[in-house]
Amino acid sequence: MPEPRKVIRKVIRRAVCPGSFDPVTLGHLDVIGRAAGLFDEVLVAVGTNPSKSRLFSPEERLEMLRRACADIEGVRVASFSGLLTDFCTANDVHAIVKGLRAGTDFDYELPMAHMNASLAPGVETVYLPTSAGWSFVSSSLVKEVAGFGGDISRFVPDFVREALIGRLTSGDAAGDTTGDTTGNTRGDGPAAD
Ligand code: PNS
Repeated sequence: MPEPRKVIRKVIRRAVCPGSFDPVTLGHLDVIGRAAGLFDEVLVAVGTNPSKSRLFSPEERLEMLRRACADIEGVRVASFSGLLTDFCTANDVHAIVKGLRAGTDFDYELPMAHMNASLAPGVETVYLPTSAGWSFVSSSLVKEVAGFGGDISRFVPDFVREALIGRLTSGDAAGDTTGDTTGNTRGDGPAAD
C-alpha cells in the first residue's frame, strides 16, 4: 500500500507597508527592504491619508514605488482606498509594518495601531526604527528642500528626484481625491511618509 500523501500547509507570513509615498524616499525603501527580510511577502500599499494634500497622483506614486521596489525580493506594490484593515483582511495580511523616525512618529502612529487593532484584532502592528541615516528624511521635507532648489539626491532614487523637480517646475499638484486607482482593495492589481 502506498503511503498516504501528507498535506503540508505552509503559512505565508504576509505584511503590509502602508503609506502615502508622496514620493517614495530612500528612508521608505530602507524600511521596506528590512520588512522583506522579516516576512515571506510584503505588500507596499499606497493609501489615502485624508489630512494630506498630494503632489503626485496615486497612479504616479504606484509607478514610482514599482520601479523603486523592483529589485527587492518578495515585495509587491498595490494601492487601496478605504480602510487599511479592510485591505489587510482582503489580502490575508498578518502585520502592518511602519517605520519610526522619532518619538513624534510614535505619538502619531500609536492611536492608529490601537484603532487598527480594534478593527482587525488578528493584525499586528510592527514598528521598525528607521536606520539612523534616514531618521530625518520624510517626503514632506524632501519636497520642501526640492522646492527651494536644494539637493535631494541623497534622499530619493534618481528617477524620483527627476519627477519631483519636473512636477515642482511645472507647478502641477495632483491632489488626492481619487484614492484607489486600480479600483480594488485586494492588492492583486498591478503587482506591490
Ligand atoms: O504616509 P502616511 O501619510 O503616514 O500614511 C498614512 C496611511 C495612508 C497609511 C493612513 O492614513 C491609512 O492607513 N489610511 C487608510 C485609511 C484608514 O485605514 N484610516 C484609519 C487609520 S487608523
